[in-house]
Amino acid sequence: MKVLILTEKPFAKEAVKGIQQVIEAAGMEPVVLEKYTEKSQVLDAVKEVEAIIIRSDIVDAEVLDAAKKLKIVVRAGAGYDNVDLDAATAHQVVVMNTPGQNSNAVAELALGLMVYAARNFYDGSSGTELSGKKLGIHAYGNVGRNVARIAKGFGMEIYAYDAFCPAEVIEKEGVKALSSAEELYSTCQYVSLHIPATDETKNSINYTLLERMPEKAVLINTARKEVINEAELVKLMEARPGFKYLTDIMPKNHEEMVEKFQKRYFSTPKKMGAQTAEANNNAGIAAANQIVDYLVNGNTKFQVNK
Ligand SMILES: NC(=O)c1ccc[n+]([C@@H]2O[C@H](COP(=O)([O-])OP(=O)(O)OC[C@H]3O[C@@H](n4cnc5c(N)ncnc54)[C@H](O)[C@@H]3O)[C@@H](O)[C@H]2O)c1
Repeated sequence: MKVLILTEKPFAKEAVKGIQQVIEAAGMEPVVLEKYTEKSQVLDAVKEVEAIIIRSDIVDAEVLDAAKKLKIVVRAGAGYDNVDLDAATAHQVVVMNTPGQNSNAVAELALGLMVYAARNFYDGSSGTELSGKKLGIHAYGNVGRNVARIAKGFGMEIYAYDAFCPAEVIEKEGVKALSSAEELYSTCQYVSLHIPATDETKNSINYTLLERMPEKAVLINTARKEVINEAELVKLMEARPGFKYLTDIMPKNHEEMVEKFQKRYFSTPKKMGAQTAEANNNAGIAAANQIVDYLVNGNTKFQVNK
């Protein structure tokens, strides 16, 4: 059986080696397509494979149509909005993600962005400290939890709101659970976004929510750009000269943001939350193990298109 490692943005070399070893140890054949530039290369590469490991690569109906032997696609990472789940289900292809494998990497970046904001983008001027500041974690999933763990070390006062995670789970970890996003934004000077992009969350971070934040508010986004209402964020930042926005997902209106809010806006040039050697390795190897476990034992524990 053939397993394709399909990555326009490749895994670290060590991670690729580790993935190949897992696949070969199971008696399967790894195939690699990296840094492709045309969709036709993808359509060609998927023809003969039973399994695919992807990162942010698009798996849509056209790719699924071309992959006649395909049984499983695993997104090495948390978000899987790059896979057409309905089309996969229609093609009887199992889709999985590898939850939790890159959470520490993303959480470290979120804290790094907070320090960058607090120290005025390292411009040489006197800044502020995170210690004693209120941090609101918007969604207490794998990344949110890790942000809470690290932020405790900074001495922050930590609050969280999650629509589905029970308050007891949050409170057990020494974090104050709040009952709505509105309450979270009203309470916290720092808010770190960890919600997935869903029909409900898209565009949900809007003017009325953000204007609740206290003076010198800092919004950190290592989640998804789609959750932000970009036009309303611009309006809000125009109305609130102390408001800072730092993101790991470059917005569509990046140029406008740079021009209007030089010292209050920052975006990484390319999504880099999960871009560490460790996260690459963990997520890639987990994906390979999940593929083997599914093809050999039928284990569907991490299936997301049930
Ligand atoms: N920057 C990066 O490179 C990078 C890397 C990994 C993940 N991410 C993104 O970070 C986000 C979080 O990832 P994760 O691994 O923690 O995911 P997760 O699935 O572990 O956690 C998501 C949490 O969101 C909660 N949630 C869902 N809908 C909600 C809503 N409407 N309101 C409040 N809470 C809601 C869920 O209950 C869950 O606890 C995702 O958007 C993911 O795509 C980004």
